[in-house]
Amino acid sequence: MSFEAAKARLEAAGQTHVLQFWEELSAEERGTFLEEISQLQPDELVKHCREAAASASRESSADGRLDERMQPVPSEFIGSVRKSDRETLQKWENEGLLQISQDRVAVLLLAGGQGTRLGVSYPKGMYNVGLPSGKTLYQMQAERIQKVQELANVRHGCRCTVPWYIMTSEFTLGPTEKFFKDNKYFGLCPSNVVMFEQRMIPAVGFDGKIILEKKNKIAMAPDGNGGLYRSLVDNKILADMEGKGVEYLHVYCVDNILVKMADPVFIGFCVNKEADCGAKVVDKAYPAEPVGVVCRVDNVYQVIEYSEIQPETAELRGPGGELLFSAGNICNHFFTRSFLKDVAEKFESKLKQHVAIKKVPFVDGEGNLVKPSKPNGIKMEKFVFDVFQFSKKFVAFEVLREEEFSPLKNADGAPLDTPTTARRSLLAQHYRWILAAGGSFMDEHNKPIAPKHSTAQNEDPPAICEISPLVSYFGEGLEKLLNQKNLKSPFILDENEAKNLVQTA
Ligand code: UTP
Repeated sequence: MSFEAAKARLEAAGQTHVLQFWEELSAEERGTFLEEISQLQPDELVKHCREAAASASRESSADGRLDERMQPVPSEFIGSVRKSDRETLQKWENEGLLQISQDRVAVLLLAGGQGTRLGVSYPKGMYNVGLPSGKTLYQMQAERIQKVQELANVRHGCRCTVPWYIMTSEFTLGPTEKFFKDNKYFGLCPSNVVMFEQRMIPAVGFDGKIILEKKNKIAMAPDGNGGLYRSLVDNKILADMEGKGVEYLHVYCVDNILVKMADPVFIGFCVNKEADCGAKVVDKAYPAEPVGVVCRVDNVYQVIEYSEIQPETAELRGPGGELLFSAGNICNHFFTRSFLKDVAEKFESKLKQHVAIKKVPFVDGEGNLVKPSKPNGIKMEKFVFDVFQFSKKFVAFEVLREEEFSPLKNADGAPLDTPTTARRSLLAQHYRWILAAGGSFMDEHNKPIAPKHSTAQNEDPPAICEISPLVSYFGEGLEKLLNQKNLKSPFILDENEAKNLVQTA
């Protein structure tokens, strides 16, 4: 793009200040800057800047009317791990494994976020929460894919693949690709790991003006995890899925250490109900818990953010004393490929733009970098769950929080969702699995450690044990290895240890 063309594009959008340092830039800096400006879609740019400023002022004037239109998800559209008997859960699991065995299921990871709250300079999936094995979130996810493939293979006597689609952004693509290559894709076939990039959009000041983060760089941010739908088209991912025969997608966030990749029970439930769209939910821990709630508004399925509900509504209870709006969204979704195609082709432009008011570093009139102490900018984001409204058959699936949800959002020191809480959730889960399999523990002096069947969120389990996903996906298969075994804490059950245990059995 030439300077004249860039200037004309910015003039049309009322954004010529972007070029204020042009005279000071080197030839190379000018080149990269023009390249960046050429990526801005001319018609979208005007709309984006105008809407960002307008919706930032609207956002603060939320009132209580939404509450009056909210209804819980009807019970006939909710499945529940807690309330279902063994036989029903087994039926869903069988269905899920059957679909997986026929290569009809893929997983899709949302990994384009900047992870600002965690505060590391690399993608969150590369984070090591301090497990005895030192595994990162990406490695655990890769191993769970391998294991679920194996479970489907064994159950149905065939070799199957669960492709892994990974949505990244300008921030996360390069390091994620390198990390996977350096680690030989954690044993997965590289052609089944498909990385693609979501779009970036400019951050805008309260006056609707694009923010410059350098003299020759616009402050850009990924367009939210709902940017998924555009990027599926931009990168021809739907066609890739079709080519691979994928019909069902399990979409999830990078930061949930307990995520069950391609969870056969969830997939089986959704397929069984002939749903085109589904959401895993957990029971809200307490009325004011800051999680979005899956519900209906004017008969349309939605996730309502906790900040949009009045406290009285969050406190409402049903006849049995349970919270009326208890379905906490955990960003674990089921979509059919044809639903995704409809959304991407017909509905994407109707998705709501959410406004995030953030501190965005900027260059002042003299070209000095300023790190603001107060929020100064607007980032517009689309959310992955905003497509529930387009579903023809929506279902929710309630799972146990301690088995399935422990997100890594904040750095240690924060009260919730930190590396420590994530590590504890996983270790506590593995400890429960071993007790259930008939194992017991002793300390380093060979003294027995008394079993404890539940541990508080803020304490470690009494014995430290970690089970590789390559050995067990959801606690299955441990009894034959560990029943009546007395294990020394800390205990790591990896594939080698599992082989030893089989030999000594
Ligand atoms: P969060 O909203 O928790 O954001 O993302 P984040 O980037 O991880 O962390 P903060 O808010 O900056 O601290 C939930 C999920 O959505 C993905 C994230 O990678 C995470 O898996 N995401 C978020 C995207 O894929 N793209 C985005 O533009 C934003």
